[in-house]
Amino acid sequence: MAPVRMSGGGQPWWRRAVFYELYLRSFQDSDGDGIGDLPGVLRRVDYLAELGVDAVWVTPFYPSPMADFGYDVADHCGVDPTYGALADVDRLLEALDRRGMRLVLDYVPNHTSVEHPWFREARASRSAERRDWYLWREPAPDGGPPNNWLSQAGGSAWTFDERTGQYYLHSFLPEQPDLNWRNPAVREAMLQVLRFWLDRGVHGFRVDVLGALLKDADFRDDPPNPRYQPGDPDFMRLLPIRSANQPEILEIVAAMRAVLARYPGERVLIGELYDPVETLVSYYGPALGGVQLPFNMNLLWLRWCAQGVLDLVNRYEAGLPGGAWPTWVLGNHDQPRVASRLGPGQARVAAMLLLTLRGAPTLYQGDELGLRNAEIPPHRVRDRFTGPGRCRDQQRSPMLWDDGPGAGFTAGEPWLPVEPRAGASVRAQQEDPGSMLSLTRALLALRRREAALVDGDWRGISAADNVLIYERCNAERRIRVALNMDETPKEGGFAGEGAWRVALSTDPARDKGWIDGVFTLAGDEGVVLRPENRTGGGPR
Ligand code: GLC
Repeated sequence: MAPVRMSGGGQPWWRRAVFYELYLRSFQDSDGDGIGDLPGVLRRVDYLAELGVDAVWVTPFYPSPMADFGYDVADHCGVDPTYGALADVDRLLEALDRRGMRLVLDYVPNHTSVEHPWFREARASRSAERRDWYLWREPAPDGGPPNNWLSQAGGSAWTFDERTGQYYLHSFLPEQPDLNWRNPAVREAMLQVLRFWLDRGVHGFRVDVLGALLKDADFRDDPPNPRYQPGDPDFMRLLPIRSANQPEILEIVAAMRAVLARYPGERVLIGELYDPVETLVSYYGPALGGVQLPFNMNLLWLRWCAQGVLDLVNRYEAGLPGGAWPTWVLGNHDQPRVASRLGPGQARVAAMLLLTLRGAPTLYQGDELGLRNAEIPPHRVRDRFTGPGRCRDQQRSPMLWDDGPGAGFTAGEPWLPVEPRAGASVRAQQEDPGSMLSLTRALLALRRREAALVDGDWRGISAADNVLIYERCNAERRIRVALNMDETPKEGGFAGEGAWRVALSTDPARDKGWIDGVFTLAGDEGVVLRPENRTGGGPR
């Protein structure tokens, strides 16, 4: 078991960390079955270390029938043979630890698989001891579902169980029945899962669909969503104010935090939440007793422009409880790729934004290569979540390690198509100073060198002309960032503010000189600037 290191500098490690979401199924296959696995990750830990991330969140590896590719857990304390064995988790912890990185697991508390022994028992009869571990209701008078709640995977959130004549609730696929967190035995069993992994030395958990853990105790209908638009996923027709987002969820989080607090090393909880910033911040909890890092997904759906980002960051920063640490996300395995949403030029600007904002950034696997949504022909579709724009396979296609067949991901037939593109692979990008990979590495290295990018305050300066300008300042250093958020070249000016050195540009053609008075940004260019005292004799 890897020793758990304490943080230096009086701050918990996760306040300085950049997180990397590793989508296990598509990262690296080691045995030729076309599916990524833990021994595969072990082969690539040096890649993660060279990239410069601090912590790796690995998506579920637990035994699972894979109806939702591991988010349908049949045993929370095991490893599916497709992905390896328990000993591989220990090896991974050690390998990451040796390189100064931490491991965050995916904890899936809202539901289990239908194949989980708890559900098999619950479903056997109405009087089963574990019947109440799940959410069962009588049919409505017309025989239909007990209420109008919708599944995020499509259709009703209720499935009728012929054998026992009741409906059970599933916020996702029918193969993912929701646990009843109002039952103390469920709570205890699921807290025990945390202890199991904490005992092995993991440093934290990303808590899957945190906001869904508790539902209205009286199972009242959800109201219609006035902002629903045709083309939105079906489940967005309703506002999930009864089927999710109950304030008592924070009591559950407090119990999880109490478990973590018994372990040394500042273990962390990251909440998966898709709320607007105003409600998101409630998940820090009273006296910061909630999750330390509630995911802020708001950049994912923002209208991409300088004013939009400036307003979002200002609203978020203003709404954060005292001492709370912000979080930022540009992509994950459930959302279309950032390079497809914004285009390759703005994807570079977005990476600079992500890694220079205040707070904990999470980088999604492959975004460091600028990967785009893959084309998935209908016969290769694996994701069972339905609805417009919902095929999540496109952002889950395998990592491109090299330009050979299987892209270095697998020697076999990959579970999703690999989509090689000239210059897209790690091998092609690592020697190219102008590549997305080189930019991401440079941004991560800059973040390590410039403490102000980690602990400095945020100050938004302007969004005029679609150029976002902000500063990060600590007691020693002032860093200024200017992001041109479209493809038109822009002139900017810092007249009277002294000279600035370009520490990093998204544009490989920019010479790293001084900026003084008026300066020009190329289309899609972002720069990180440091004030410089030119009397010091630096280059002009
Ligand atoms: C989370 C996961 C997603 C999964 C769902 C149900 O949103 O990120 O992939 O399908 O939970 O577990």
